[in-house]
Amino acid sequence: MKILVIGSGGREHAICWKLKQSKLVDTIYCAPGNDGIGQIAECVNIIPGSPEYIQRLIHFAQANKIDLTVVGSEAPLADGIVDHFHEANLKIFGPSKDAAILEASKVFAKRFMSRNSIPTAGFQVFKDAQSAIEYVMSVPLPVVVKADGLAAGKGVIICSRIEEAIAAINMIMVEHIFGEAGRQIIIEECLTGEEVSVLAFTDGEHAVQMVSAQDHKRIFDHDKGPNTGGMGAYAPYPGFTPQQPEGLPLYDLIQKDILEPTICGLREEGRKYVGVIYLGLMLTKNGPKVLEYNIRFGDPECQAILPLLETDLVEIMLACMENRLNDIHITWKHLSALCIVLASGGYPASYKKNLPITGLDEANAMKDVAIFHAGTSIADGQTVTSGGRVLNVVACGKDICEAKKLAYEAAALIRFDDMHYRKDIGDRAIK
Ligand code: AMP
Ligand code: GLY
Repeated sequence: MKILVIGSGGREHAICWKLKQSKLVDTIYCAPGNDGIGQIAECVNIIPGSPEYIQRLIHFAQANKIDLTVVGSEAPLADGIVDHFHEANLKIFGPSKDAAILEASKVFAKRFMSRNSIPTAGFQVFKDAQSAIEYVMSVPLPVVVKADGLAAGKGVIICSRIEEAIAAINMIMVEHIFGEAGRQIIIEECLTGEEVSVLAFTDGEHAVQMVSAQDHKRIFDHDKGPNTGGMGAYAPYPGFTPQQPEGLPLYDLIQKDILEPTICGLREEGRKYVGVIYLGLMLTKNGPKVLEYNIRFGDPECQAILPLLETDLVEIMLACMENRLNDIHITWKHLSALCIVLASGGYPASYKKNLPITGLDEANAMKDVAIFHAGTSIADGQTVTSGGRVLNVVACGKDICEAKKLAYEAAALIRFDDMHYRKDIGDRAIK
């Protein structure tokens, strides 16, 4: 088969790497890809979000007889790429625009959870700043202020003081910093507990959980500093794995109270969901509650999850698309995986680019280690940095401790100016 992957980050590198292991795959293309992806796939210069990009991808898929397209990030899905590909009779893995609304509109997601009795934080929706401000002055703090639409991961603001809440409301609704995405806002109760990412494959009727994972969103150790796209992840989350056929309580609880009602509710509302669904959960003392839905693999969770997948990823994707997920058996390695993100100094604010990277070959040559590129490109034959999150160093081991040790050994071999990475990835699972 010929496969086209859409995206250019560490997640898409991990997807290409896993697809490459499939006996069903002959050639992989990636639009637009990056330097690391270019070593295992053919990069295609079509950038998601650029003018007419969906039409250009369709022409590329037709001209190159692509058998299956896989979408990495949410924006093309929210733009309806799946619907356009289907109209052109092309196979594509991911939810249609109707189902993608689950991530594209947080107001939709919250109301959907309410009407389907799916556990989530209490909330109110506002269309004007004045009533939102009156409301925050009447409720206990902290509160969470969220823009309705896609805001590149920046649309959620946790406010411990009333001034912060008012400033957040004004930024979104008066200064319009997120444009149309902030036309409506949600103000919700702030939940506490451990955060865990539960991803699942679904064919629209059945949903099969992957190994659970934990992201590390803040830039500095011990969850200090601003939020980022994710500074590392590990899988599985301790005491929580689909490995046991009878399941542990948490696994079953999430399946029964969250995943199945989500998939079933969407289908009943005429929004049948096919693809990967991501549940961002808070494990509160009153049980797991949904913080957010994503409509695709998480980044960097994907980089820690896919190395543990034993089953052929293409077979799983085809089973989802052909409504026969129940007929296949998905298996996982009895190992743990840990991913460290190497970032450019200054990220998530401004940072330098075009810094030469050394040590990649040595790190890549280590057993049970994979290096997935995120922001890299090639200049005069040398791999250089081209983004804030630059590389993902992933290692597998018999447990998180072993995976962590190996991943940090590999990370220590890699160098570029001002390189920054967290030293505490996985510690919450180990202590
Ligand atoms: P994002 O992935 O950008 O949507 O950011 C969501 C992040 O905000 C989550 O990973 C949580 O850390 C945090 N968050 C969102 N909603 C809540 C909530 N109700 N209570 C506490 N933290 C929240
Ligand atoms: N790791 C969080 C996300 O992918 O949205």
